[in-house]
Amino acid sequence: EDIPVICIDGPTASGKGTLAAAVADALGYVLLDSGALYRATGLAAQWDGVADTDEPALARLAGLLDLRFGHGPEGSRAWLRGREVSEQLRTEEAGLRASRISALPAVRHALQDLQLAFRRAPGLVADGRDMGTVIFPAAPLKVYLTASAATRATRRHKQLISKGIPASIDDLRADLEARDARDKNRAVAPLKPAEDAYLLDNSDLSVEDSVQQVLSWWQGRR
Ligand code: C5P
Repeated sequence: EDIPVICIDGPTASGKGTLAAAVADALGYVLLDSGALYRATGLAAQWDGVADTDEPALARLAGLLDLRFGHGPEGSRAWLRGREVSEQLRTEEAGLRASRISALPAVRHALQDLQLAFRRAPGLVADGRDMGTVIFPAAPLKVYLTASAATRATRRHKQLISKGIPASIDDLRADLEARDARDKNRAVAPLKPAEDAYLLDNSDLSVEDSVQQVLSWWQGRR
């Protein structure tokens, strides 16, 4: 029970995933990308022809989610029902569907035990929206990561362009602002900093600077 958890919450495209993976790597901790669970539930629903609004059926899919994570040469990989879905989970479409179904209380509830099970020795770095507020409220370190909407849209744009996917910065920005609004205004587990979270705005920080900041908070707390 004294396995430590570091929570990294924040809005879409704030760089949580990159930061959480680097911190987990530096400390040799387990990583939980909780957004992937919502994304995978959405993908399973799409495969099974379950509507985005069918809360009981979505909760059932979430409760039976057969999702595995591993590492490949290009970073973390994911398999859903034995099929590799690493790329499919990262698409804007998968993110949007995840954002819609994640507002459903029964879906959130169904994914709770799965998230708690990631807490294994020697420690966990958990990335999401409600890691510090709902899933691991007693975590000894909570970070709320933000960046301006302009910065986040520009980063997302660069990522897509580097993969050869055409995109407009304005569309991406509108998209991520809509997703933020939905995450912040939902009734269950809305996106907000935990009362005891450290706020980190990385608009003008390199990844390395952000990692160092989190590691120094972590060392300072022990
Ligand atoms: O973090 P990521 O972009 O992968 O998350 C996809 C969507 O899943 C988010 O827009 C959010 O609506 C939802 N989510 C959530 N709670 C989490 C992680 C993700 O509601 N802990």
